[in-house]
Amino acid sequence: MKSKIDKIKAKKNKVPIVCLTAYSKNFSIILDKYCDIILVGDSLANVLYGMKNTHRITLDKMISHAQSVKQGIRKSLMVVDLPKNTYKNSDLSIKNAKKVIRKTKCDAVKIESNYKNHNIIRDLVKKRIQVMGHIGYTPQFYKKFRIKGGSQLEENKLIKDAIKIEKAGAFAIVLECIKQKTAKKITKAISIPTIGIGSSSDCDGQILVTDDLLGLSGFYPKFVKKYVNLNRIVAKSIKQYKKEVINKKFPKSNNSF
Ligand code: KIV
Repeated sequence: MKSKIDKIKAKKNKVPIVCLTAYSKNFSIILDKYCDIILVGDSLANVLYGMKNTHRITLDKMISHAQSVKQGIRKSLMVVDLPKNTYKNSDLSIKNAKKVIRKTKCDAVKIESNYKNHNIIRDLVKKRIQVMGHIGYTPQFYKKFRIKGGSQLEENKLIKDAIKIEKAGAFAIVLECIKQKTAKKITKAISIPTIGIGSSSDCDGQILVTDDLLGLSGFYPKFVKKYVNLNRIVAKSIKQYKKEVINKKFPKSNNSF
């Protein structure tokens, strides 16, 4: 029988791969019905913890959210981000990836590229740990947002990086905020799937931060499509609740013991 990873890989050039982030069980239950991959992204640093970047989120916080997410997953492939500084060398990355997998029962980990850490992916894969790569704008290694792949030099660097990540044994690569022409070339150059975020439909799949597409996060760069404004819907319900509490309309006798 094909493994979950093989099924994802087999979608390349056939069916677009559907991916979203989740940080808790309530969301993963819903996402699991529709997604191929659910990522417990370190974007939870910004989205849930209000941090200005992802640099200070801890491995334990990632594990804690991943344990919650796992409870809602039946069929999707679950990937957990290794946070900044937890994969500085091979020994550390193996130790931390094993801890994440043991404690959360996820299928794979994701690490961001700094153009030099292919050996880390290779050593993780040697230990039978499944790895997703991440290139382009890699928030753990930048202070400021940047679109990548604009110049010929940068395009060549990204293509080379993607090829090295594939050779190291990763099963897929996230392409974040890479120019369409470059994302297309990267996708052609490698035989593992590319998952785009802000990198066009020329990737093999797409990922977004779920809170962004639901209109919950207040963060809507060009690459996000807001499918609903949950902020407004939630606010409406809370306002109604407030009104009913003040007017003694809630709780009614059927809400009381
Ligand atoms: O942390 C995250 O949510 C991510 C996605 C944006 C790809 O890495």
